[in-house]
Amino acid sequence: MIETPKLLMIPGPTPVVRSIQNQMARETVAFGDAGFIADFKGLVAELKALWRCDGEAFVLAGSGTMAMEMAVANITKRGENVLICSHGYFGDRFIDICARKGLGVDVLKAEWGTVYTPEQIDAELSKKEYAALTVTHVDTATGAEAPLKEICVMLKKKHPGVLLIVDAVAAAGGAESWMDWGIDVLFTCSQKAFGVAPGLAMLWASGRALAKRKSLGTIPESYFDFERWIPVMQDPSKYWGTPPVNMIWALKEGLRLMKEEGLEERYARHIRQAAVFVAAMEALGFKTAASKENRAPTLSIFFYPENSGLDDLPFRAKLAEEGVQSAGCLGAFAGKGFRLGHMGNIDKHVLVGTIASVERACVKCGYQVELGKGLGVLQAGLVRE
Ligand SMILES: Cc1ncc(COP(=O)(O)O)c(C=O)c1O
Repeated sequence: MIETPKLLMIPGPTPVVRSIQNQMARETVAFGDAGFIADFKGLVAELKALWRCDGEAFVLAGSGTMAMEMAVANITKRGENVLICSHGYFGDRFIDICARKGLGVDVLKAEWGTVYTPEQIDAELSKKEYAALTVTHVDTATGAEAPLKEICVMLKKKHPGVLLIVDAVAAAGGAESWMDWGIDVLFTCSQKAFGVAPGLAMLWASGRALAKRKSLGTIPESYFDFERWIPVMQDPSKYWGTPPVNMIWALKEGLRLMKEEGLEERYARHIRQAAVFVAAMEALGFKTAASKENRAPTLSIFFYPENSGLDDLPFRAKLAEEGVQSAGCLGAFAGKGFRLGHMGNIDKHVLVGTIASVERACVKCGYQVELGKGLGVLQAGLVRE
């Protein structure tokens, strides 16, 4: 049997292109190697500059959840209040992290598929004194994007003393955010819109966040204490925990590709790709979970069309046979649809291959779409690019 790689269309990890794979396959060197130290230093400096950060950028081994905990651990202390703005499964994940930390937790929830407004956040923050708030830029369970820029504008005007933590795991590198909007801690990880394999967390902390960390003295957490890592980020010849050498090279190559494309163009490309991709799926009868005005450019949840007869597990198994890996829905959406990423280092061929596979899987599962209908819409969109 001819085995070709399946398209990795889950919302992370995303497809890893050959030049990044090549970095992971390099001969590993000592983390004290002069060439590696220079590579690591350059990578951190570039991340900091590109995201317009006046504090420090961090790159360390771990997943997005670790970065969530790192953010909370370094800028809050037991007894302080935090407002969690949640529009899905990953927003809710902050509740446990903050409660375990001994913070006073309030949650502003938006119905799945929708998002909260800056006005709602303003009203909540006006009720008591908060040290920080968390915003999930794109919740991977709903495919909805929070109005981050507008939230930043509101905070600057109305609540300048409250520190803003942004979970940009399913956004950074695919949906726009800059630290100088007024973000205090922003984080993501390697396997999403950066298009690198899983394994690294990247976090940016503003000067204000670093000052808050300093004011806390010794914190209970050790591995991801900013104070432990700042000396390493500024001079990677220093040691706190062993850096994952090959992953750091892989991220450096990922960032090189991003710079070659240009971050602004990359964000614009994600918006264009998402629009044509969703239009193609809609032509096949699928509907997104996120309302049109809140749709994220990085991933979508597609609900099965009513009366299509499509059953989640067999459909996704057939889709995998046809060459595309997809993800099941989470929480309240489980079984009602499936999730597809459209972020990172993907191109027209990937989108065409994905829609073609979806069409075949539909027909093979008994949902008689007109073959080529989704592809036609996609192709018409792609030739306009
Ligand atoms: C928005 C968001 N936050 C946090 C996480 C957790 O990241 P990880 O699975 O890498 O720990 C995810 C994972 O998909 C996510 O999508």
